[in-house]
Amino acid sequence: MTFNYFEEFSRKVGNTPLIKLKCQETKNLSIYAKCEWHNPTGSIKDRAAIGMIKKYLDETNGKTHILEYSGGNLAKSIGQICYHLGIECTLVLSSGSGNSLLKELDNYGVEIVLVDKSEGFYAVIEKALEISNKKLDYYFLFQHYNHANILSHIEGTGHEIISQMNEKPINAWVASAGTGGTLMGVYKAVKEYTSDVELHLVMPKELPYGSEQPPNGLKKYAGSGGFGLGRKQYFLEKEDYLINKQWNYSYEDTLYEMARFYSETGIKIGTSAAANLLAAKQLGREKGKDFNIVTVFPDAGTIEEWLDVETLLSEK
Ligand SMILES: Cc1ncc(COP(=O)(O)O)c(C=O)c1O
Repeated sequence: MTFNYFEEFSRKVGNTPLIKLKCQETKNLSIYAKCEWHNPTGSIKDRAAIGMIKKYLDETNGKTHILEYSGGNLAKSIGQICYHLGIECTLVLSSGSGNSLLKELDNYGVEIVLVDKSEGFYAVIEKALEISNKKLDYYFLFQHYNHANILSHIEGTGHEIISQMNEKPINAWVASAGTGGTLMGVYKAVKEYTSDVELHLVMPKELPYGSEQPPNGLKKYAGSGGFGLGRKQYFLEKEDYLINKQWNYSYEDTLYEMARFYSETGIKIGTSAAANLLAAKQLGREKGKDFNIVTVFPDAGTIEEWLDVETLLSEK
């Protein structure tokens, strides 16, 4: 029964549409976006979730309690899957997490541990590590180091994009990084297909990748960001010399872009998708029409992000 649920859920993950953007600002450019809100819980993180939970089910070692931390989207995937599989679940989140997420996780019976948002996301990871060291019967997914995470993007997202491009070259891959699983996983797959593909990292202006600044509690676009104090994501640090450019956008920049894109296309994208789109457009304007840029829209935005869009526009 539980196995059937997981099989069924896994079958619905991936094979999301890749669309060529045709709004006013992109119609003379060649920008393609992978629309990840088509996944069962509405985001790209379903891919990493099924990869890591499959690994857990294969090597459970009798552990019946999953521990993980999240910026939001992975929590939704893990919470829902654990609920249906009857696995107990503890999730560490920032106190800045939206109420809609906290309520949903509560409904799934998840034990939630909150870390003060002023301490930044690195402190959320450290808290989960601390719990994992104390609770030896918990199975810690540890997405920033879990190979099943990056593998889901090499074998899934990356290979899907290659086949959806129908033999057209991919001249640049543009994406944000939380763990860097999406960014580096897709890059590794695409490099086998277009060997000179450029790699473009998008990050919040409030705390870019590799920043020496201390962590801060500023609002940032979703699912992404640096750790502060020069610390770097494991999936990126050994290969960050491959990054052609890092593009940085503020939370406010991404809210304006969500509103603009929605008013022109009727398509709702979230803040990280908006950041990726801002970078893809800037790069496209520099490179011209014959340069194929592929990016990703990780989700369609949370209730809280769309409320922030409304507030911002009403203040103008
Ligand atoms: C909205 C959103 N964008 C981007 C990402 C980046 O994902 P990754 O962990 O693969 O770097 C995430 C991850 O949580 C996310 O939720």
